[in-house]
Amino acid sequence: MAMGAGEFEQAVENIYSFVPTLVLKSAILLNIPDIIANAGPNASLTLAQIAEKLPTKTPNLHSLSRILKYLSFRGIFVQTQTGQNPSDPRYSLTDSAKMFYVRENNPASLVPLLLMLTHPVLMAPWQHLHESVLQDCNAFEKAHGKDLWTYEKEDPTVNDVFNNSMSTITILLMGKILSGYDGFKEVKTLVDVGGGKGTALAHIVKAYPHIHGINFDLPHVVQTAPSVPGIENVGGSMFDSIPSADAIFFKNVLTDWDDESCIKILQNCHKALPKSGRLILAEIMTAEDSNSYKSIEIVFDLVMIALANGGKERSIHELMKLLQLSNFNVVKIVELPGLSKLKIIEAIKV
Ligand SMILES: C[S@@+](CC[C@H](N)C(=O)[O-])C[C@H]1O[C@@H](n2cnc3c(N)ncnc32)[C@H](O)[C@@H]1O
Repeated sequence: MAMGAGEFEQAVENIYSFVPTLVLKSAILLNIPDIIANAGPNASLTLAQIAEKLPTKTPNLHSLSRILKYLSFRGIFVQTQTGQNPSDPRYSLTDSAKMFYVRENNPASLVPLLLMLTHPVLMAPWQHLHESVLQDCNAFEKAHGKDLWTYEKEDPTVNDVFNNSMSTITILLMGKILSGYDGFKEVKTLVDVGGGKGTALAHIVKAYPHIHGINFDLPHVVQTAPSVPGIENVGGSMFDSIPSADAIFFKNVLTDWDDESCIKILQNCHKALPKSGRLILAEIMTAEDSNSYKSIEIVFDLVMIALANGGKERSIHELMKLLQLSNFNVVKIVELPGLSKLKIIEAIKV
């Protein structure tokens, strides 16, 4: 049967679907969103005005205009003709460009996430995805001979790229977590297991200053955590033991591991908690029926095959099963405002 033109074009578009991410990365590396924003509110710049802010005296204006044209088509910039000179368009920012400012302390930034996912070290495992099927292996390990966490230990740049990316995403999510879930108010000591740079805990302790926070992660990760009043940074492995506290928080950690590893981690939580101690999990929770998956949850799940140690996205029931097998009783499932997939599960030690 002959293939329709629509099918052919769709297939070709699928093949080229790496282009938007990498063109956006080039605009970020050229600092273009900031160049336009720094020109003032609602600024609209010509190609020459953008080019003169680039760190070169000989920019290729043809390449620059093609990059800007494409990203205008993708809704990052707005391209307008000036009227007098139709060959000299101007470029301004859309609201979504704000997420791509390179400047420091941009609370909406998605730049560290993009730079992490497109870092050559984190792109390499995708070349081995098929081997994860054929050889039942970890794609990251196939690419680099060690898992991501060991790689980070030996490469401070990748350690920073990964942890900064997690930290900026956490900044974006913590407001929603704290407005949707108030269970921290009864907690006195809280350990954030796999807490990275301690960003989640810093938000929690700011909202509930009576809490003593323990940010627990691998030693090379907590070394990069800033010192925050009310938070102790403790290095170690959750597979060995977890510091004692009356409650344990996890955000986006179980997703990195296979079921067997998750049960080991949860058993160590069980040992670290007092009788009736509380476990608070903030994880992506997929639809129960894979036919109802949204594209993004399937994408997140594939990222776990590429980068994590047997990790996967799980449904509420899959997470509840792991908790039951580790002797925790689920007492609450909390939906978060503005988030359809990240939810909280609260469980009590049996
Ligand atoms: C996906 S990141 C989540 C970070 C943080 N919870 C957040 O949401 O921003 C997973 C974290 O688990 C940590 N991790 C990996 N192996 C670990 C181990 N054996 N013990 C403790 N933490 C570990 C990583 O260093 C990383 O910070």
